[in-house]
Amino acid sequence: MISVVVLISGSGSNLLSLLQKSENPLYPAKIVAVGSDKNAPGLEHAELYEVDTFVVSPERFATKELWAATLLANVQHHQPDLVVLAGFMKVLPANFVAALKGKLINIHPSLLPEFKGAHAVRDALRAGATKTGVTVHYVDEGVDTGEIIVQSEVAIEPNDTEAVLHERIKKVEHELLASTIEQIAYKQLPALKL
Ligand code: GAR
Repeated sequence: MISVVVLISGSGSNLLSLLQKSENPLYPAKIVAVGSDKNAPGLEHAELYEVDTFVVSPERFATKELWAATLLANVQHHQPDLVVLAGFMKVLPANFVAALKGKLINIHPSLLPEFKGAHAVRDALRAGATKTGVTVHYVDEGVDTGEIIVQSEVAIEPNDTEAVLHERIKKVEHELLASTIEQIAYKQLPALKL
């Protein structure tokens, strides 16, 4: 059983799906805390499941590094084996990433290296792509540049809006994230550095 801290910024549908899966005693990961950079709506899922939450807002700090150091202290307080960025929309500076190297993964709604950044679904639609997808990757100091663990394709339909396509992508994300964490827990990933 591995312990996981999840960081979110938004609605937390990936978080909710993980909380539901980890209710199953056979699922090999337990969410020990959920953190955010703001009062994200998704924190309510953690509260419902009686999982500790913490919020560390960058506005309260003079520099990004000071913010990240406090965020890191909150994460490390829970001594996680793995930290999952599930819709965490702030770029984390090098001091945070280096401290969690090999233990920090992110889920992103595109087939990286295509459509990096905060608007991947919109960018794929605007580019006229016929397919996009989901990537789970280790986090490095760049933005969506870390080593790719797994990807899954999602077709773009002619009448897709950003909202419709993103919902379809999220359904794939929920399964891919859960199975990746499962593989990490069972040490089935070659790049694992836990
Ligand atoms: C997810 O689609 C996730 O891949 C994306 O934010 C969404 C969060 O949804 N992350 C990024 O775009 C990171 N660059 P959720 O809050 O419902 O889980």
